[in-house]
Amino acid sequence: MAAPDKTPARISGMFDSIAPRYDLLNRVLSLGLDQKWRRRAVVELQLGSNARVLDLCTGTADLALATVARHPDASVVGVDFSGAMLSRGLVKVRTAALDRKIQLVRGDATRIPLADATCQGATIGFGIRNVAEPERALAELARVLAPGARLAILEFGQPRIPGIKTLYAWYFKYVLPAIGRRVSKHQSAYSYLPASVGTFPPPAEFARTIERHGFVTVEAVPLTLGIVYLYIATRR
Ligand SMILES: C[S@@+](CC[C@H](N)C(=O)[O-])C[C@H]1O[C@@H](n2cnc3c(N)ncnc32)[C@H](O)[C@@H]1O
Repeated sequence: MAAPDKTPARISGMFDSIAPRYDLLNRVLSLGLDQKWRRRAVVELQLGSNARVLDLCTGTADLALATVARHPDASVVGVDFSGAMLSRGLVKVRTAALDRKIQLVRGDATRIPLADATCQGATIGFGIRNVAEPERALAELARVLAPGARLAILEFGQPRIPGIKTLYAWYFKYVLPAIGRRVSKHQSAYSYLPASVGTFPPPAEFARTIERHGFVTVEAVPLTLGIVYLYIATRR
């Protein structure tokens, strides 16, 4: 399968277009499981008190909000290059009166606008797959994380149990793009989703890539039968 075009202008433009319906589609297409996966990622950060956390590819800030919901003394910097996704996020942050706790910044994952070793945790929810140069983003994460800080990355996977695998492949390839196209009114964004997941490295390989960029004790934990993988790592 050929890797889809991930040039920053195409990806940010695509997320700008689907931003108004992004949260709704997440809830519907995941049957409400997406927020559960985010909460699990936050637990795995094992944050101490007053931690500063980076949420890379923050989109509409759901992971940033989940972090502060569990750790009210934490502060989060959410970084994303889609202005429209960040605008939706900002409305949610302001509605929750959390604008002093969550700061949303426009920026690229491969040039994180933060100083070295200034974060005690970092998350990426369903974002790394979209980054054209994921290894540069991992190197940047290693740069901004303090030694001992934990990284939690959520990304889609492909279930391996026979039967479930076939059923899910049918849902992911045909049903999800059809619903996504109808609700978002974007012709290709929800076909790009299975295409980008299909060309993402298998969990063991991606875990090794994380390890090569300054992380230890890297784990790839399957969630919901392997529909999603949670990668957990500690900054060396
Ligand atoms: C599928 S959304 C995930 C949003 C959010 N993390 C969540 O859990 O719902 C992927 C996000 O990654 C952002 N993104 C992709 N590549 C990026 C890059 N190179 N730099 C910054 N943001 C990027 C997109 O703009 C989009 O908002």
